[in-house]
Amino acid sequence: MSVRRLAEQQPESFEFTPENMAWLEKQIAKYPDSRQASAVVPALWQAQKQNNYWLPQKAIEKVAELLGMPKIRVLEVATFYTMFNLEPVGKYYIQLCGTTPCMLCGSDDLIKVLERRVGSQRKVTADGMFSWLEVECLGACCNAPMVQINDDYYEDLTAEIFEKLLDDLAVGRPVKTGSQKDRVSSEPEGALTSLTSLYGQK
Ligand code: FES
Repeated sequence: MSVRRLAEQQPESFEFTPENMAWLEKQIAKYPDSRQASAVVPALWQAQKQNNYWLPQKAIEKVAELLGMPKIRVLEVATFYTMFNLEPVGKYYIQLCGTTPCMLCGSDDLIKVLERRVGSQRKVTADGMFSWLEVECLGACCNAPMVQINDDYYEDLTAEIFEKLLDDLAVGRPVKTGSQKDRVSSEPEGALTSLTSLYGQK
């Protein structure tokens, strides 16, 4: 388990934008009086999105103030869920699955690519473009190995395909999400191997 601490370098303040504040007020209104704390996860998520996908201490404190919660309670939530980044991440934040199915299908090769091109985990490249972290299963084991980059999954990767993906992202070329081997979702490569009579195939 990784240690989750607040970043050493912190901004001096955090305020929600008017648009995000209006959005948050709608979320809070979904809960009964005195149960506003139930909005803590969406509030933190919106704060993270507003702050380039990481949560500074001042944002955690702002959420506590808005929801009438002790700061420590909000800090507990922010440090418990790994979806919350407690330190700056790159424009492209790569979460690499290293759990057994992905490991058996070549995630170590992808790690070598990241160590060579991006550097060690949690460090943002000098140009601010990339950072990465090894995570546990992301639920796409059928298409292993895979990574999540920001909100999208990239599956059926090889070292070569992954290098090309990083090249394309670095220069702003469009990239394809999902399977990189052109199979549909997690269907078998080539052709169906089961339920073939159901689909009129032998
Ligand atoms: S083991 Fe990698 S997605 Fe499940």
